[in-house]
Amino acid sequence: MSFLKLAFLAGFAATASATAYVNQTSKSLHHFQPCNGKQYTYQELAGYGYVPSNARDEFGDTIGGMGSALALDRSQWKKLANGSYTGVVWALPDRGWNTQGTLNFQPRVHKFNLLFTPNETATVVNPSPNNLHLWYSETIRFFGPDGTPCTGLDADATGHITFAGFPDLPGATYTGDGFGGAGPGGKRIVIDSEGIILNDDGTFWISDEYGPFIYRFSAAGIMLGAIRPVDAIIPMRNGTESFSADSPAVYDVGVSDDVSPADNPTGRDNNHGFEGLSASGDGKTLWVLLQAANNQEGGLSKQTQRYSRLLKYDITKPDAPRYAREFVVPLPLYNDPTAKASKNPKAAAQSDIFNVQGDQFFILSRDSSAGNGQAVTTSVYRQIDVFDISVATDVKAAGGYDCATCNIASSAGVLNSSIVPVTYCSFLDFNVNSQLNRFGLHNGGVTDKGLLNEKWESIGIVPVDGGVGDDDEWFVFSFSDNDFITQDGYMNGGAYPYSDASGFNLDNQALVFKISLPAHSRPFPRDP
Ligand SMILES: *[C@@H]1O[C@H](CO)[C@@H](O)[C@H](O)[C@H]1NC(C)=O
Ligand SMILES: *[C@@H]1O[C@H](CO)[C@@H](O)[C@H](O)[C@H]1NC(C)=O
Ligand SMILES: *[C@@H]1O[C@H](CO)[C@@H](O)[C@H](O)[C@H]1NC(C)=O
Ligand SMILES: *[C@@H]1O[C@H](CO)[C@@H](O)[C@H](O)[C@H]1NC(C)=O
Ligand SMILES: *[C@@H]1O[C@H](CO)[C@@H](O)[C@H](O)[C@H]1NC(C)=O
Repeated sequence: MSFLKLAFLAGFAATASATAYVNQTSKSLHHFQPCNGKQYTYQELAGYGYVPSNARDEFGDTIGGMGSALALDRSQWKKLANGSYTGVVWALPDRGWNTQGTLNFQPRVHKFNLLFTPNETATVVNPSPNNLHLWYSETIRFFGPDGTPCTGLDADATGHITFAGFPDLPGATYTGDGFGGAGPGGKRIVIDSEGIILNDDGTFWISDEYGPFIYRFSAAGIMLGAIRPVDAIIPMRNGTESFSADSPAVYDVGVSDDVSPADNPTGRDNNHGFEGLSASGDGKTLWVLLQAANNQEGGLSKQTQRYSRLLKYDITKPDAPRYAREFVVPLPLYNDPTAKASKNPKAAAQSDIFNVQGDQFFILSRDSSAGNGQAVTTSVYRQIDVFDISVATDVKAAGGYDCATCNIASSAGVLNSSIVPVTYCSFLDFNVNSQLNRFGLHNGGVTDKGLLNEKWESIGIVPVDGGVGDDDEWFVFSFSDNDFITQDGYMNGGAYPYSDASGFNLDNQALVFKISLPAHSRPFPRDP
């Protein structure tokens, strides 16, 4: 493998021919582009680490997919006198190993201790070894309000689970032990976790993509509350709510697996739920963003899935969240070099958001089916970008867009002309090989340990000064979701061994970027 050759490949440019495109022709750093007058700067890739693909948690299950979301504990982040940093990070996997069918995996969150030592001498010709180390510490599993475990199994085609004081929740009825073995069967709340907020009191907000719902859990993992979004987002089939994501249980694949129609005509697309979840720095507001458009608004095709809904909830009273505002985010467009011209451009679905301050957010948008474990190894769009809501239409206030048949865009993905979407600005590109090579990593080229995983799905930030970040220098952490792909995997508390049919072992990769936020940013006003 030639790092220099790979660095050259970094010059790959998608053609930016229309103004709607995010300009990808410049793959160098330091092209400082202000967003609504505010300057963000990508300084460098500062770190790399990973958790091995076959690492297991305290319950005997594979620690896979830990990058669906992350939460860095603000109180634990410390800069040591010797220049290293220590901290605590919570890493959220989604619904368990599911590349060959879903399983009765209990959704959970893992806690890791971390040691990060910046390495200023890392260069392309003399790369740094891993400088981010993650030590597994503990796991909290998620349970329903009555203490019954939640599950990663696909939701039933129709129906729901009812608990007093909760909206109707998506549920799965399963036979046996839910892994294809003997057992009494049962019915559990389904959760495919994609976003996490760690609250000061130890409780968590978790966003999901079956409902898609937002749940609040106690520090012990007991469900305390649930937010059901506006009707326009609830998946419907035959005019009834239908939370199935057409992701049959592993023992049902090819047996009784088919939900019909496979794609719900309206509501969130299958497996395109609340990927983005963030809280404001003062902890009073929750923001959630769909991975891409609702199906009735273009979500059924990568070319038309562009207009995604961003919802704001006032959580001043966590027991009584209030739907407050709603905006439309135009996902970035990119040209997929493996697709014919008529299938381009595509809209890059998003995998996480982070409320930097006030009206501005980070958003992690990316292509798919390119990276480690895929036939195509070169990703062409994998960025933490910025969007600004200050001049966008609040479609909740405008009214008329939230019922099941009230659309913000046509099914061909054309936005209603009376809506001004948020302002979208290009920022931090993961795929710059001149940076990746400094840590022995690369985008594209041969499949080896240094090839970036396909799915990057999380954003967390901590100050470089180890204090409050008044110099506006911050580290951005992002973890990948490896889909639990390993040849040495375990589910069901260790009782269910598996080897992913792909033949791959994909580490849970983690990156650290060094950036400058706009002058006088205070992302966490609660800080002393
Ligand atoms: C894209 O960015 C490059 C480098 O900044 C610039 O030369 C080029 O004109 C831009 N293209 C478009 C379409 O904006
Ligand atoms: C700094 O100290 C910590 C704690 O003793 C240690 O783990 C780390 O390796 C040290 N870093 C350097 C650069 O020596
Ligand atoms: C930093 O990277 C250089 C290679 O550029 C390596 O020789 C050195 O050991 C690294 N330092 C640490 C503390 O890992
Ligand atoms: C929708 O209706 C069709 C035709 O009656 C039926 O086959 C299918 O199972 C129904 N789907 C759901 C989710 O009810
Ligand atoms: C746009 O939305 C408004 C409601 O705000 C509605 O009256 C109008 O018909 C919509 N336009 C289209 C083309 O759907």
